[in-house]
Amino acid sequence: ARTAAVIPAAGRGVRLGPGAPKALRTLNGTPMLIHAVRAMAASRAVSLVIVVAPPEGAAEVRSLLDAHALPERTDFVVVPGGQTRQESVKLGLDALPPEYGTVLVHDAARPLVPVDTVDAVIEAVREGAPAVVPALPLADTVKEVGPAAAPGEPEPVVATPDRARLRAVQTPQGFDRATLIRAHETVTADVTDDASMVEQLGLRVVVVPGHEEAFKVTRPLDLVLAEAVLARRRL
Ligand code: CTP
Ligand code: MG
Repeated sequence: ARTAAVIPAAGRGVRLGPGAPKALRTLNGTPMLIHAVRAMAASRAVSLVIVVAPPEGAAEVRSLLDAHALPERTDFVVVPGGQTRQESVKLGLDALPPEYGTVLVHDAARPLVPVDTVDAVIEAVREGAPAVVPALPLADTVKEVGPAAAPGEPEPVVATPDRARLRAVQTPQGFDRATLIRAHETVTADVTDDASMVEQLGLRVVVVPGHEEAFKVTRPLDLVLAEAVLARRRL
C-alpha cells in the first residue's frame, strides 16, 4: 500500500511569540514547513505530502513549495487548515486519495526528524500495527498537581507517576488509513495527538524509538536549538 504524510501547519505559534505563523518562520533561512516537508519526502516510501496551511495562507504555502527543490517522486497538495490541530488533521485527511493505505501525521513544528525515524514508523504500520508513535524516555521527573486551595496559593502535588513507564511522544505518528479516518469521525473529545484518538477506539497503539532531533519547536529557545542542529548538519 502507498504511504502519504499529512502535515498540520496551520497553527499560529502563540508560544513562539509575535511574528509569522510558526510553520512559515525560518530556520537558517528556510521556512520550518519546508524542512518538515523535506523530512517526510526524504522517505522513499512517502509518495504524497498533504500540507495543511494556515487558513489564509494556502496560496503562500503553495508558492513556497514551488520555490524550493523537493523530490520529483513525491506529490504535494495544499489545503487550508482549521481552528484546532485536530480539525486541521481532519481537513488534511479529507484530501487523501483512496489508494493510500498508510498515513503519517507529522507536525510542521518538528522540522528536523531524521528519515530513519520516519521509516521505522512506516515499517511498524506495514507490519500490522493500526497506530504507531515514536517515543523517548523522559529526562525530567513528572508530577501530577491538583488545583490550588485558593487563587495565589501554590498548587499541591498529588502524584508522581513512575518515570520508567512514561514516554514523551513525537511525530510522525503512523496509521492504517481506515483506522485514522474512523478515529477522526468518531472521537469528539479534545486531544493533543492523533494516536490518543485511536486509543479511545480501544485499538492497540505501539511505540517505536523516537529521536532527540524530532523535538517540537514550541518556545523561542527551541529555535536556537533547531538552528544549531541544522548548522551541525551544514544545511
Ligand atoms: N496546528 C494546525 N492547526 C491548528 C493548530 C495547530 O495545523 N489550528 C499544527 C501546528 O501548525 C503545528 C502542530 O499542529 O505544526 C503542533 O501544534 P503546536 O506545536 O501547538 O503549534 P501551534 O498551535 O502553532 O503553537 P501554539 O500552540 O504555541 O500556538
Ligand atoms: Mg498549539
